[in-house]
Amino acid sequence: MDEATTNVPQTIGDGGENGGAHVVGERETGRGPACEPVHEPTCEPTREPEHRTGHGTARGGDAGFVPSPADTPVASAPEDGRIVLSPADAPVADVPARMFGSFVEHVGRCVYGGIYEPDHPEADEDGFRRDVLDLVRELGVTCVRYPGGNFVSNYDWKDGIGPRENRPVRRDLAWHQTETNEMGIDDFHRWSRKAGTEIMLAVNMGTRGMADALEELEYVNGAPGTAWADRRVANGIPEPMGVSMWCIGNEMDGPWQVGHMSPEEYADAVEKTAHAMKLAESGLELVACGSSSAHMPTFVRWERTVLTRAYEHIDFVSCHAYYYERGARSMQDYLASSEDMIRFIATVAACADDAREANHGDKDIALSFDEWGVWYSDVWNRQEAQWKAAASQGLHCEPWPKAPHLLEDIYTVADAVVEGSLMITLLKHCDRVRSASRAQLVNVIAPIMAQEGGPAWRQTTFYPFAEAARHARGVAYAPYVESPRVRTEAFGEVDALDAVVTWDEKSRSGLLLCVNRDVAQAHAVRVDLSGLPGALDEGVRVRRAVMLHDEDPHRRNTAERPMEVTPFEPSVRACGDGSFACDMPAVSWMAVEFAL
Ligand code: AHR
Repeated sequence: MDEATTNVPQTIGDGGENGGAHVVGERETGRGPACEPVHEPTCEPTREPEHRTGHGTARGGDAGFVPSPADTPVASAPEDGRIVLSPADAPVADVPARMFGSFVEHVGRCVYGGIYEPDHPEADEDGFRRDVLDLVRELGVTCVRYPGGNFVSNYDWKDGIGPRENRPVRRDLAWHQTETNEMGIDDFHRWSRKAGTEIMLAVNMGTRGMADALEELEYVNGAPGTAWADRRVANGIPEPMGVSMWCIGNEMDGPWQVGHMSPEEYADAVEKTAHAMKLAESGLELVACGSSSAHMPTFVRWERTVLTRAYEHIDFVSCHAYYYERGARSMQDYLASSEDMIRFIATVAACADDAREANHGDKDIALSFDEWGVWYSDVWNRQEAQWKAAASQGLHCEPWPKAPHLLEDIYTVADAVVEGSLMITLLKHCDRVRSASRAQLVNVIAPIMAQEGGPAWRQTTFYPFAEAARHARGVAYAPYVESPRVRTEAFGEVDALDAVVTWDEKSRSGLLLCVNRDVAQAHAVRVDLSGLPGALDEGVRVRRAVMLHDEDPHRRNTAERPMEVTPFEPSVRACGDGSFACDMPAVSWMAVEFAL
């Protein structure tokens, strides 16, 4: 993973070892009393903020911190927020590689016109867009869930194997589109190897079920010598694909899902299917569907029923969480969306623990946030209503377009800040959340957009994901955050600031991810990482910092102006006690890479 981070194109403001943001000098040993002026002015004396809620251990005041006279205050406000890692803080857990997963579904132009476009000038010998592959690698995606989503619940994986000219064209009931089956599991396997990503496969529990899942498993992972494995070999893939993680269906609680089930029906189906799949391959990691969202009427009852029944054979429960500004009560509420995710995690983890107790078990079922991100779902709801209205005119009135423009949300700066904040939450809970897939990857609610026959570009949401995926290594810490509060309608008063720290002992380097969720106020933040192992002796060197913010939180990147929003270098001020400070404007996200 470390190699990967150094090999990716340096397009998000990498300044090299000492490039990028203002660099904290070598003399910053973490012991000096003074604020060390670097390139930027002043560390203002810290005024003790009111005590706020936070995680971890509060440290004493900043005695001994004296602002250098050379440092005339410029734009920085008095510090009103602190992020502190104290020596007593234990890491939450190791950062799972699968935390930086994504999702490719056969919907809209995610596959056709996204990752696959054989007529595109950038297409390679397999029809995959090279420009998109480059961006996927730059994004740092580690694992990709495939092929759905709602799509999988009426999909026959056998339609997508063998010679393309023999593959059937089908109607997809989930998204009301025509599926040409030009891409299937073999093609996706080839694409994943080029992208350098693991595959997480979902099986159809809507129109198919256990028998089909077992055949697919044999086709994908079987050693040559049995019928389905030999079909794979005949199709040009001699080695087993080695797919370890399998989702047993998708959102089976949702009334929109083809073949949706009651909690009891699904509990029965997933228990039997997981049992059989593990008889075929005991080392699999199996994901049971959780609720489609924390706002479903059967939420909790679903988790309790399913997890208690299937406990023995499953390893993960899925969680899906989408947010968008119009779906929230206010912009401030939207910016605080991670509060909803925190409650969601706590509730599902409690259900998993209850299931463990009920089974007298000793393993913890982990959470797989295998769909998360920003989705303007009201736009889709309108589109869906339109084709339903067309269909109601009589028989044969329904459109079945190929690769239609669906769910092509163009993201704002605020959306990127929300996604940055959600990533912080996932990392802070990585003891329980052991896998996550930001939904989706290309064109469809995606960080990467690709025009038919034209260029591909990065959405605003690309940047916070890429920074975490490329640089969050080792273990995660939930630092103590002392923050001004903001008022929300849905969650009451919450901290404006949130942060996570990752630390890689091998390279003795780390990453701070921080967000200011305040819709109106900038906050000046003092960061003290002296609790990291060895930090007091060696001092913390800031290598590079990037920030996302814009005066207009609704600014976006478009095909015409793809670089309208990009991260910039914030001014990071070194403080002589090994800490540093930075101003975080209202609605902003920041990443700071540091080393000892
Ligand atoms: O990602 C879009 C859709 O959201 C998925 O197909 C489905 O699982 C969820 O409802």
